[in-house]
Amino acid sequence: MSRDPEELGTAPNSVPPGSPGSSVSSVSSSPSYPSELRVSDSTHPGRRRSSESPLAQSWRDVLLRLSLSLPIDTELDQLLREFMDGLAALLPSAAFGACVVSTNGAAPVVLSRLPVGMALDIDRDPTRLFPGFHDERIFDLEDGAVGSTLHLASPLQALSPLQTQIGTQAALLLAAAVRRARLYMRAEESARSIRKLQAQVIQNEKLASLGQIVAGVVHELNNPLTSIIAYSDYLKRMARSRPQYAEQEDELERLRRIGEAAARILNFSRDLVAYARPAADVPGTVHVPAIVEKALIFCEHEFQGAKIQILSDFDGHLPPVRGMAGQLTQVFVNLFTNAAHAMAPDGGELRITMHADKVQQTLTVEVADTGTGIAEDDMPQIFEPFFTTKTDGRGTGLGLSIVRGILDAHSGTIHASSELGEGTVFTLTLPLAVVVPTLLPRG
Ligand SMILES: Nc1ncnc2c1ncn2[C@@H]1O[C@H](COP(=O)(O)OP(=O)(O)OP(=O)(O)O)[C@@H](O)[C@H]1O
Ligand SMILES: [Mg+2]
Repeated sequence: MSRDPEELGTAPNSVPPGSPGSSVSSVSSSPSYPSELRVSDSTHPGRRRSSESPLAQSWRDVLLRLSLSLPIDTELDQLLREFMDGLAALLPSAAFGACVVSTNGAAPVVLSRLPVGMALDIDRDPTRLFPGFHDERIFDLEDGAVGSTLHLASPLQALSPLQTQIGTQAALLLAAAVRRARLYMRAEESARSIRKLQAQVIQNEKLASLGQIVAGVVHELNNPLTSIIAYSDYLKRMARSRPQYAEQEDELERLRRIGEAAARILNFSRDLVAYARPAADVPGTVHVPAIVEKALIFCEHEFQGAKIQILSDFDGHLPPVRGMAGQLTQVFVNLFTNAAHAMAPDGGELRITMHADKVQQTLTVEVADTGTGIAEDDMPQIFEPFFTTKTDGRGTGLGLSIVRGILDAHSGTIHASSELGEGTVFTLTLPLAVVVPTLLPRG
């Protein structure tokens, strides 16, 4: 192991404070140092000067070894801890600390380390990490974020020129290590998103093939369902033509129900296939109440399982909007499914209201539930792709991002308000369809 370089404080080759690399500021309680001094540096940090003695070279070797051993695949605070362990071996009587500013809005990572047996002054000066110390130097870290610093402090005397030089080099080393760690984190993050996206693509492909299978199944169902409807109609007509018609009222009612149930399955399956074919979706005049009714039928299974009461309050003759029926159905299917999930398993109320604003030329739809509500922290993220709180695999986090995409494409808006434990209201606005006035014949 090399000698303690602090013994070399007056080494002939030592460079004045703030020599190579990053800029340095000094905060000192000694009159010989101004309280805030920034010295810019010009010597190339990596170049070794020919006059250096072998002893002075050894601290560079320690720093080099430290630089090579610092991990990149770790959190910043772990990286700083390992850096400080290495630096402590080199500067045992100095205190040092670092403040590494985050690039993603998180709190900065601040770590400090005192020489063995020392404690910090309680009356802290906010500009210093070591306020009670005689001398403190602050090195700016060029780590890709503005404001990161390395602090080096000496408890009883001014830092020696060599200590300052080591600090300057250590700051360069730390900045490079933090830059590498940040790059690694970004690469990891991208790899994670790609993996998530790949899983999503596979899932979407599965759903697409399932859609084709369903379309085939529905096609096969068509003929028998049409037969059931036709034969139940036929049997009803036959029964009515018989003399004992009045006594068979109960049987006729059952026949009517068979026909109705079959017609319902037929309509549902046809709608389902139409919904699964977005390519055929062309803009047109869309009656939102009809779309909402259809979406409610699609979500019936979700509501039944979760004891949900539907309260819809709107006029079926509201003016139409211009849009794509299939996509707007998808909007309401997603909103109703989310509401059902938020109210399961105890149930609740799903209230759908609508009104048209003739002045603004918009249709407003409110979808309100009495479910779990959305936490304040989650609220800014709910429309982000892949944001989900459904960790049980029920959600991919794409529903609301698709909803917002569809509303954007329709020049509409969507807004959520929620009270945790009380429920959530989604408010949608869609521009009304421009009604072309028809020229009525005179008279
Ligand atoms: N009505 C609601 N009540 C409570 N939380 C909701 C409601 N709607 C959405 N959320 C919250 O917003 C998150 C995102 O919703 P989104 O529909 O985008 O994804 P998901 O429902 O989790 O999954 P997916 O819709 O892709 O199956 C949900 O995980 C949930 O936390
Ligand atoms: Mg959803």
